[in-house]
Amino acid sequence: MTRKIGVALLGLGNVGGGVIKLLEDNAAAILGRLGSRLEVRTVVVRDPDKAKRVVDVDRALLSTDVDAAVRRDDIEIVCELIGGTDQARTAVLAAIAAGKHVVTANKALLAEHGAEVFAAAERAGVDVYYEAAVCGGVPIIRVLREGLASDRVESLHAIVNGTSNYILTTMAETRRPFADILREAQDLGYAEADPTLDVSGGDAAHKLAILVGLCFGTTVDVNAIPREGIDMVDPIDLSYAEKFGYVIKPLVIARDHITAVEARVHPALIPANWLLADVAGAKNAVYVHSYALGPSMYYGAGAGMLPTAMAVVSDMIEIGRNIFARAAGAPRPHRPRPVEARPMVAIADVVTRYYLRFGVHDQPGVLGQLMTILGAHGISIAQVVQDGAPGRRDDDQPVWVVVLTHEAREGAVRDALAVIDALPIVAQPCRVIRIAG
Ligand code: HSE
Repeated sequence: MTRKIGVALLGLGNVGGGVIKLLEDNAAAILGRLGSRLEVRTVVVRDPDKAKRVVDVDRALLSTDVDAAVRRDDIEIVCELIGGTDQARTAVLAAIAAGKHVVTANKALLAEHGAEVFAAAERAGVDVYYEAAVCGGVPIIRVLREGLASDRVESLHAIVNGTSNYILTTMAETRRPFADILREAQDLGYAEADPTLDVSGGDAAHKLAILVGLCFGTTVDVNAIPREGIDMVDPIDLSYAEKFGYVIKPLVIARDHITAVEARVHPALIPANWLLADVAGAKNAVYVHSYALGPSMYYGAGAGMLPTAMAVVSDMIEIGRNIFARAAGAPRPHRPRPVEARPMVAIADVVTRYYLRFGVHDQPGVLGQLMTILGAHGISIAQVVQDGAPGRRDDDQPVWVVVLTHEAREGAVRDALAVIDALPIVAQPCRVIRIAG
């Protein structure tokens, strides 16, 4: 008789529904690859009467008791799809304490409590898999943990938030403002009712913290990762970027500095001929530069019911294989060893290129003043464009002076801009967007 592996699902939203659907739709393929069935034996929901009917679920499977579910003898894998960090943390730690293997799609949980969860799992001798936590269906965790296990990642540039990418892509196509596109995206269900975590870079920072751990073998304090949201991008910046041969993308960037680690989240200008520039709509992609392989890129759906469920079920299959190989819970490093604590490069010490859009009054000598102050701070100019209606001088409408710099230290740029923004010729504070690549 075919061996079955008992699964408890905690949460029955889109992803939970997707897991149930995929286990049915791909049952034959899963059986072929695992040699066993994954059987959902209980689904914990807050209120069975209100449980979403994303898919048809046998109502007899529904329960409300997390503790009882994770302690059941017939459950080997607990799949946490609750989200958030409070209940999810309690549930995952309870599952681990009960000796269950865990699959989670919860980036916030791992970014904020990963060390605690992995330490508990190692002590208990259970597996924790989390492919769906970063880039949904794109198997980037496996790539970093296994595909590149013999390599050394030097840097990573990635688009890990589909909502932000969708909004910026649509802004670039229509040149309409952020707030309009966000509202539309919410109406269409592409953005959450409270979009803060997505558009402010918080969701991306969670994913970046997980990626940094895998790439560089160090933990970072997710709250210390410098971040800027896409709400600071104006359609005019997209137009200037295009004139200079760039597009603006919601990036996460990580770089190994040997003694320290650089990690940041912000919209950035990237060359229009970069592969990442073509990653449009809600798609995600991770561009990795590693010592032996050189550049490689991983692209696909970073969210959505079936793509995310696919990653979750693949994790269950891997745990199932571990169980059969009697390797489940073996002390396998979840991150490269030794896990050294390395400091994060302070944002003031980041060296990159900058797009600076100055809103100034159109008077003789303005350009000269700007360039002199930038020069005095050691900031070298690569390109300058001034736009504005001819003859329209000194009225309330600023003219735009757009500067692309060579590489400069962020601290120097911020110091120079503090001086410039205080000048009487300046009509509005400089808009700063970093350039990647
Ligand atoms: N809200 C995320 C996004 C998907 O917009 O990409 C889940 O991580």
